[in-house]
Amino acid sequence: MRNDTPAFSEPLHVGRPNLASPEKFIELVNGALSRKWLSNDGPLVRELEAQVANYLGVKHCVAITNGTIALEIAIKVAGLTGEVIVPSWTFIATVHALRWLGVTPVFADIDPETHCLDPESVRRKITDRTTGILAVHLWGRPAPVAELEAVARERSLTLIYDAAHAFGVSAEDKMIGNFGKAEILSFHATKFFNAIEGGAIVTNDDEFATRARLMRNFGFVGEDHVVIEGTNGKMSEISAAMGLANFGGLADLIDVNRANYDAYVRGVSGLPGLRVLEIDARHLSNYQYVVLLVEEDCPATRDDILAELRRNNVLARRYFWPACHRMEPYKSLDPEAGADLPETERISDQVVVLPTGTAVNVDEIGVIVDILRNTVEASVNHRTGGTDGA
Ligand SMILES: Cc1ncc(COP(=O)(O)O)c(C=O)c1O
Repeated sequence: MRNDTPAFSEPLHVGRPNLASPEKFIELVNGALSRKWLSNDGPLVRELEAQVANYLGVKHCVAITNGTIALEIAIKVAGLTGEVIVPSWTFIATVHALRWLGVTPVFADIDPETHCLDPESVRRKITDRTTGILAVHLWGRPAPVAELEAVARERSLTLIYDAAHAFGVSAEDKMIGNFGKAEILSFHATKFFNAIEGGAIVTNDDEFATRARLMRNFGFVGEDHVVIEGTNGKMSEISAAMGLANFGGLADLIDVNRANYDAYVRGVSGLPGLRVLEIDARHLSNYQYVVLLVEEDCPATRDDILAELRRNNVLARRYFWPACHRMEPYKSLDPEAGADLPETERISDQVVVLPTGTAVNVDEIGVIVDILRNTVEASVNHRTGGTDGA
């Protein structure tokens, strides 16, 4: 008989904010309040930009309100028009940012081992109207940077990256933030690096950075001289304060995430049809996402597993489901897009993202793994007509 008491009395969330130092946050906010300088390129924003640029070894960091506006500004600065190739297997903001600016997103498929763009699929999607590639370092796994660079060079396309998941991550010995024409970051509260709402454009291109800075502030140079069309992409001092307060905790957070990831990998190994998406040891990782794959040979379905986790107050999530090409307006614009995206279609039905970060500890992960094991075993029993007492 099933025990209906949830394994956890309080919910364990995916993406619960990590707060390294609430005290430092309050101290920095008090400083901003006493200066009466709350936005418009304040000292905390500048300090955050300097620290991010230094951490990534990149020349310019332009702090922005959030990752979505950072994408929009980067797409504008890069001059992308016509069609841009993008994965469908990403958060909808990557794709919406293109369409919001009148650019047509064209979906390419992914490599099932990394969940990032497959360069061969990208090649197949290039037309006379293609002006660029917007690649994503999904789950903080680096996209195939060398291959994408080669495609972009051969076909004279502009390559930019959505690195919303990839703060503190490298592609071999080079930090993400240094690839393509520019990369965008998200510092949303649920991300590895939390500035409440926030993001940035990072680039080694002086002109790109100058134009991004202008566009983030309505195109103003000085007080009353507008030289370019722009928007409001400014980060507030309060967000910068949260970012600065969290900076000192990043190394510890990676250790916590790493220990959690290892505990999940150990626990899940041997469970039929379940696998935690591997992290390639050649690259630095922030271990921010623990991606459980419920493969075809698993006796339980992905949605059974999710339901059982949630019944036990483990608020795991089907991330990026359905994939972007199955969401509006893309679904109506091209109902057949999935035919060229077999890996995206397959993987989007397999993923469950599990809680990690400071919201969960290794003992709790043991309990989560027990829930997974019990769900799989119950499905085997159900299929074989039950073995209890046999
Ligand atoms: C891959 C990806 N791109 C872009 C974004 C947008 O970032 P933000 O929430 O900061 O606007 C997100 C955030 O959730 C994301 O996961």
